[in-house]
Amino acid sequence: MKIALGADHGGYELKNIIKEHLSSKGITILDFGTNTPDSVDYPFYGFNVGQAVISKEADLGIVVCGTGIGISIAANKVKGIRAALCTNSYMARMAREHNDANILALGARVVGPGLALEIVDTFLNTPFSGDRHSRRIDQIAAYEDKKKS
Ligand code: RB5
Repeated sequence: MKIALGADHGGYELKNIIKEHLSSKGITILDFGTNTPDSVDYPFYGFNVGQAVISKEADLGIVVCGTGIGISIAANKVKGIRAALCTNSYMARMAREHNDANILALGARVVGPGLALEIVDTFLNTPFSGDRHSRRIDQIAAYEDKKKS
């Protein structure tokens, strides 16, 4: 499994904790940064992780900013991305089972590292249920295909 990671200055420390956690499990990481506390703009990182998932360079993505809000909004602008901002494991499980989310978004100023890693593990270990949920995801994709703005 290959996971793309990206974060702004508000999320890079948690991103690096996630990187270490996943690497220790033998998961390959594609790290899009940032890697310093210098202030950066989260859209760049959200877009890059989104592109990596859509191009299949990575199987799934994880993005982190202060709240997880800005970077999830940015990632969701990449066509085909379903980024889910999760603050607990239930949301992470549902994001995969019902929404087939392909990016997990986390807020480093919202969840502590212990909870964040539990959310990450739940997200990565839960398969999509398919069935009626596929129809709803297909509707989102069809809207993306036909929308002009
Ligand atoms: C940066 O200060 C902060 O705005 C950003 O990390 C994120 O929380 C935005 O949604």
